[in-house]
Amino acid sequence: MIAVFTLNADPITQAELQAVLACMKEKHFSCGMIRIAEEGILSKEQRIKLVQLAIRPYRKLKLSEGTPCDEIIAIDPVNEPEARAGAFNLAARGTRQYLNDHGCYYEEIVTASCKPHRAAHSRSTADLCRELALAHHLNGERAWRMGMLHDVTKIKEDDWGRSLLSVYDPDKLSMSPKIWHSFTAPLVLKQNLCLKDTGILHAIYHHTLGDGNSDLDRILYIADKCERTRGYDTEAEIKLAKQNLKEAALLVKTEQRTYLKEKEGIHA
Ligand SMILES: [Fe+2]
Ligand SMILES: [Fe+2]
Repeated sequence: MIAVFTLNADPITQAELQAVLACMKEKHFSCGMIRIAEEGILSKEQRIKLVQLAIRPYRKLKLSEGTPCDEIIAIDPVNEPEARAGAFNLAARGTRQYLNDHGCYYEEIVTASCKPHRAAHSRSTADLCRELALAHHLNGERAWRMGMLHDVTKIKEDDWGRSLLSVYDPDKLSMSPKIWHSFTAPLVLKQNLCLKDTGILHAIYHHTLGDGNSDLDRILYIADKCERTRGYDTEAEIKLAKQNLKEAALLVKTEQRTYLKEKEGIHA
């Protein structure tokens, strides 16, 4: 007995995979073929890759190739909007690393987790991160992903940040709530997005204080402050950053300290 399961797979979620497996078991199918919808937010090629990764541990599941079957079963989407908004922990287990490594749904995550002006800032920061990384012969796409995610918890209320930091990073509670998002974002990205890239997580953690010393740390710190939607001329800082990240980070930090002290009374 062969079944064809039709899915959106945008992305394929763990609940959908479990539904397929439960149906296979209940109806004693010997083979389950997965057929995915033509249209999705991700390309069909990427959704096929996700399904391949999701079904890899299960010998009886295969991608459909138009094989004749005994029954066609539609699997309703479960948790797909939540997964696309950043809950990659709901995506099928084998797909989570791929989703992060390829920046899948990062645009949707930024839109869902930021107000429009903050989303525009995140996109612009990401673009500048990529530009600076490429100038230093580093991985531009990894830098872009870091920039996209750096402010994902900025929208959260202080009470939310306080309750999270009081458990995971209580030393930071003495600092201004305006910078708590740099400490809460890595916690959320590890938990919800299943992000394991320690270089990106480290850079996000240090992006408000500028106290990180890796190339990625400095790229994010500089890009966050100098991205081109900020409304002031930062081309001199960007030019310096393409030549020397350490000097540029020091310059930006000095300028930020002066600015924040004068304008907002926040000590960075
Ligand atoms: Fe930030
Ligand atoms: Fe930012």
